[in-house]
Amino acid sequence: MVTVVDRPAIEYVVKEAVAAGIEQIILVPHSSKASIENYFDRNFELETTLENKKKLDLLKEITEILPPYVSVISVRQPQPLGLGHAVLCAKAVIGEDDFAVLLPDVLVKDSDTPNDLSLMIQRFNDTQASQIMVEAVPDRLVDQYGIVDVKHSPNEGESIVMQGIVEKPAIGTAPSNLSVVGRYVLPAKIMKLLENTPKGAGNEIQLTDAIALLQETETVEAYRMKGQTFDCGSKLGYLKAVLHNGVDHPKLGEDFKALIKELEL
Ligand code: G1P
Repeated sequence: MVTVVDRPAIEYVVKEAVAAGIEQIILVPHSSKASIENYFDRNFELETTLENKKKLDLLKEITEILPPYVSVISVRQPQPLGLGHAVLCAKAVIGEDDFAVLLPDVLVKDSDTPNDLSLMIQRFNDTQASQIMVEAVPDRLVDQYGIVDVKHSPNEGESIVMQGIVEKPAIGTAPSNLSVVGRYVLPAKIMKLLENTPKGAGNEIQLTDAIALLQETETVEAYRMKGQTFDCGSKLGYLKAVLHNGVDHPKLGEDFKALIKELEL
C-alpha cells in the first residue's frame, strides 16, 4: 500500500468519495493487494492491544477512518485485464444502480466544498448525462491519458457535451488537451457495454472505449475540475502529493513547512 504522509493513498480517494455523499464503496483490488481490504476492516487484536496499553488516540484513529454509515465491500479482479474489466468485476454488486469510478493512483486536492465529485454527481442527477472529470495537460503528455473531444474547453467547474473520447492518442492526433483524470459518474447500463467492449489500447479492456460506445446513444459530458491532481503513479506526482498533504497536515504541517524552508538554497 502506497502511503502519502501518514495515510494510505487509497484512504484519500475513499474520503473524497465519502465527501461527495457516497455511502457504499466497492474496492476492486488485484488478489495480491489484500492489505487494502484489511485496512478498512476492523482489527480486534490490534484494537484490544491499543486499549490495554491505553493508546486511545491511536485506537480512535484506526476505528474512525470512515464514518459509521459508510460500508466498504471488496470484489477482486483476478487478472489485470484493464480498467474496463476492473469496473465490470463490480457488476453484480452495482446491480441497477448508477455509480462513480475513482482511480486510486490519482489523488484529487479539492479547492472547494462541495468537491468536484459532488458537483459531477449533482449534474448527473439533474441531467442524467454521464460525467467525466477532465483537466488540461501539456500537449506532449496527451499520449498518457484518455483525451476528450469537445467543441470548446469548458471553464473550471463546468460540464460540456463530449463529441468523443479516445484512449492514449499519439501526440499530434489528440482531439484536445483535456485529459481524463480518473473520476467518472456513470449509468448502470455501461456494464452491458463493457461486456461487449473488445480489447483496446495496451491490449486491455478500456473503460474509455465503453464510454465512447455509450456516447453514441446518450449524452456524455466532460466536467472540467476546479481542484488539482497528483498522479501517484509517477514518481514526481507522488512527491508532489506528499509535499501538498504534508503542508496541509493538521499536526505535522507547521514543522514540515519549516523543514522545506530549511532546504531552500
Ligand atoms: C487510466 C485511464 C485513462 C485515464 C488515466 C488517468 O489509464 O484508462 O483514460 O486518463 O487512467 O490516470 P492508466 O493510467 O490506468 O493507464
